[in-house]
Amino acid sequence: MTRAFFITGTDTGIGKTVAACALLRAFAARGLRAVGMKPVAAGCERTTDGWRNEDALALIAAGTFQPDYALVNPVALPEPTTPELAATCAGADITLEPIVSAFRMLASQADVIVIEGAGGWLAPWSATLDQSALVKALDLSVILVCGLKLGCISHARLSARTIPDDGCRLAGWIGNRIDPNWHLPDANTELLASHLPAPCLGMLPILAPGDAPPVDALTLDVLMRS
Ligand SMILES: Nc1ncnc2c1ncn2[C@@H]1O[C@H](COP(=O)(O)OP(=O)(O)OP(=O)(O)O)[C@@H](O)[C@H]1O
Ligand SMILES: [Mg+2]
Repeated sequence: MTRAFFITGTDTGIGKTVAACALLRAFAARGLRAVGMKPVAAGCERTTDGWRNEDALALIAAGTFQPDYALVNPVALPEPTTPELAATCAGADITLEPIVSAFRMLASQADVIVIEGAGGWLAPWSATLDQSALVKALDLSVILVCGLKLGCISHARLSARTIPDDGCRLAGWIGNRIDPNWHLPDANTELLASHLPAPCLGMLPILAPGDAPPVDALTLDVLMRS
């Protein structure tokens, strides 16, 4: 059976891709066939091979095999903005069908699929489609990446409260040291943990540009049981 996880975050730009790639490398280190998905990517570059998104390319590079790009990123939108608006700009409507069928193709080749959402949990995909619809359709466990900076406790609590309200399950959270100037990081992290109703899967340290977190930064045991 393929295990699949949906990576959401306290905001856009807080380390979902970094965390998703770290998870992929950690699963790979356990000998599992691991692959990433960025089902809806807003912000793509035109290449000779078609539209390409840097998150999707990073996830492909972190996986244990390199599937067709369209399976990893079935909905590739040019405009770097919120997905519903990017879809409108492209004259498109985001629907679940192409995403679910790409997922099924990948699931036939992978032990683990790590799916990166777009922005934060409530960033809509259309007037009638939230990201939670995909999570429910595929019965995914949600992992919340908390970008550790001032304000993250409220964003994290809002997300952790809304995910179950939307009928989804929060399997765990990851702290990511996105802001080197965050004041009182240890005390703040402890406080954050005390307010979140799910286990912490690990802390990703402040990274130098181009560096990846250590492969043992995240614990997978909770996820393997979920
Ligand atoms: N722990 C860290 N230390 C230093 N830089 C980081 C860290 N985590 C993320 N970054 C940097 O912050 C930026 C945003 O990270 P990332 O792309 O993973 O965020 P995201 O949540 O996936 O963003 P998006 O919403 O656009 O998908 C990137 O330039 C990344 O290299
Ligand atoms: Mg990203």
